[in-house]
Amino acid sequence: MEPKEKDKKPIINCLDDGPYAVENVDRVVNSNGRPLSRKAKRMLCRCGRTKYQPFCDGTHIEIGFKSRDGSKQNNYYSNDDYIGEKESDMNSGSTIFIEKNGPCRVQGGITLVNGKKEDRTSDENYSLCRCGESKKKPFCDSTHQAIGFRDDGLICIGNLSQLDSELTRVTINRKELVIVKQKEILSVLSGLCLHAEALMAEGFIDGPYLTCGKHLWRYELETGVLDGDPTMGLKKMAHRIEEDNILIKTEELNALKIAE
Ligand code: FES
Ligand code: FES
Repeated sequence: MEPKEKDKKPIINCLDDGPYAVENVDRVVNSNGRPLSRKAKRMLCRCGRTKYQPFCDGTHIEIGFKSRDGSKQNNYYSNDDYIGEKESDMNSGSTIFIEKNGPCRVQGGITLVNGKKEDRTSDENYSLCRCGESKKKPFCDSTHQAIGFRDDGLICIGNLSQLDSELTRVTINRKELVIVKQKEILSVLSGLCLHAEALMAEGFIDGPYLTCGKHLWRYELETGVLDGDPTMGLKKMAHRIEEDNILIKTEELNALKIAE
């Protein structure tokens, strides 16, 4: 006989190269402290790049997210509303707290399955990586702090104090960027030359141009426009600076071509 809904065990299934499939959990509390409406099953992003935090929207497939275990998995995006629940009630039963710019904090003995064997746990409390970059997936190892993970649609690609040359290469999930810093100019451009995909960070600055070191195609430093053909160029990424952190839109990064 099928167990009744209320008797079903709460589990988190770490899908290979995909999201966390969460089943029968009493509540999921979003980073603003509000519980999501109760659902028997929902998919939470663990690649860190969804447009609809904290839910998976399939972006993990586009970016070729690797969870360490191998094969591809399904995607799922679920729209949610919120329910009112007293804060005092939120500490009982099985609960997943989505931490602002951080992991999923799991409490209440939710069984974790489909990680590597040694990762299986039914510990009372543990934290699961949500930035996609932990070295101990599926668990959080605090890498989110080191990389400045954000769940507001922006991604930190570096810090002004770390830019010690005019060209800085940034690689995130096999996407290449180059940060150009020269006198008053700070621009973030896609990092592969349109000609033969050489790394633009290994090129050089020549007057108002960023020149590819391989075949000398050159692009305007500020705009990325190709010299001689204004219809083509490196992708200029909108950026903003917050406390010296250089932030770009996750969506724009996701749209870049993956380096071969
Ligand atoms: S795991 Fe699916 S979008 Fe992140
Ligand atoms: S959320 Fe990814 S390491 Fe903490």
